[in-house]
Amino acid sequence: MYKHLYQRFLAAHPSELHFACHSHHYWPDCTREAHLQYWDDSCKYVDDKWGYIFSTKVPQAQKLIAANLGLSHPEQIVFAPNTHEFVFRLLSSLNWKKPVRILTTDSEFYSFDRQINRLSELPEFEVVKVPTLPFETFHERFEEALGSANWDMIFFSQVFFNSGLVADISRLAAKAPASAMVVIDGYHAFMAVPTDLSSVQERIFYLAGSYKYAQGGEGACFLYVPTGTRHRPLYTGWFAELSHLSAVGNEVGYPTNALQYAGSTMDFSGVYRLIATLETFKKEGLSAEVIHQVVQRNQKLFLQELSGKPHPLLQGSKVLMTHPEQHGHFLTFELPSTEDTQKLVKELAGKGIKTDSRGNRLRFGFGLYHDEQDVRDLISRL
Ligand SMILES: Cc1ncc(COP(=O)(O)O)c(C=O)c1O
Repeated sequence: MYKHLYQRFLAAHPSELHFACHSHHYWPDCTREAHLQYWDDSCKYVDDKWGYIFSTKVPQAQKLIAANLGLSHPEQIVFAPNTHEFVFRLLSSLNWKKPVRILTTDSEFYSFDRQINRLSELPEFEVVKVPTLPFETFHERFEEALGSANWDMIFFSQVFFNSGLVADISRLAAKAPASAMVVIDGYHAFMAVPTDLSSVQERIFYLAGSYKYAQGGEGACFLYVPTGTRHRPLYTGWFAELSHLSAVGNEVGYPTNALQYAGSTMDFSGVYRLIATLETFKKEGLSAEVIHQVVQRNQKLFLQELSGKPHPLLQGSKVLMTHPEQHGHFLTFELPSTEDTQKLVKELAGKGIKTDSRGNRLRFGFGLYHDEQDVRDLISRL
């Protein structure tokens, strides 16, 4: 039904069943034109390029993102090439001269997890990771941990990358101690799981990017910064000086808007592509709600058909899922071992089925370029 949006990527892989879109999404055709437009604008504006981008393209992207997340302050969104840059900038806003207490989960993506593991080698850092499984009790356990210390940062994913399970942001943010910076990694939710941040927009920082469900490719990540934020990240770049600065004495000044979290020179072609996909979705009536319905239908069909197809490893009972209506856009099978999982990913690739894995978890991602027939073909090739 929506394959016409992806003609070029589909034509380049005619016999592949691409079920890894949760990792590396096919790009819609509209992104090609946008990519070329970046070249043309670079040629046209040369020295005035940053002025043009910050006055025209950035506000355009901010408005499209804000509309999809229920945010009333689009100008509070700042861009960077990846989320890791934001993660480190957020961490660098904390006072490292005193004990730094961070509460998170055991299921955060490596950009945060690796960084926090390294920082915990410093004596000042105290990091507590709440296991996400069993998920039936996750929220109670995380709430209990929230009340157990004076946390400086609370960091968790909206959709966990190693399961597709969905955390209730409002519920957990409401219990966070007032002293803590609350950061949500929304990468696996943005443009996939319908999200309305209006009730928590004064409380949370929200990270996401374009490479997955927003389908604009790499290089365009964003951070939403609550309006009252007055931070002085240690890790700071010259883009922060594109706004009015407030400084005391000889201190380095910071803007009062989202640019306090800005970095430095970046390639904005990703932002151009992101604008193109979000504009196309808008034109086609493809809100996150509609996209979610399409994916849910295909996930449901997949699980139904799988129940009639005996497979030594891929069984419905092995899928990590608690609420089928409220689940990320990939299904995760928990298999006996990492070796079994890697072997199966390879075996599937041999049958033209592209999936991926994390440890002993095999992931099948669903997207708009799959129709019912693709799901049936997938089942018949297993
Ligand atoms: C939950 C989550 N956050 C962030 C990222 C991307 O991180 P980065 O932009 O630092 O590469 C991914 C990539 O798979 C992810 O799954």
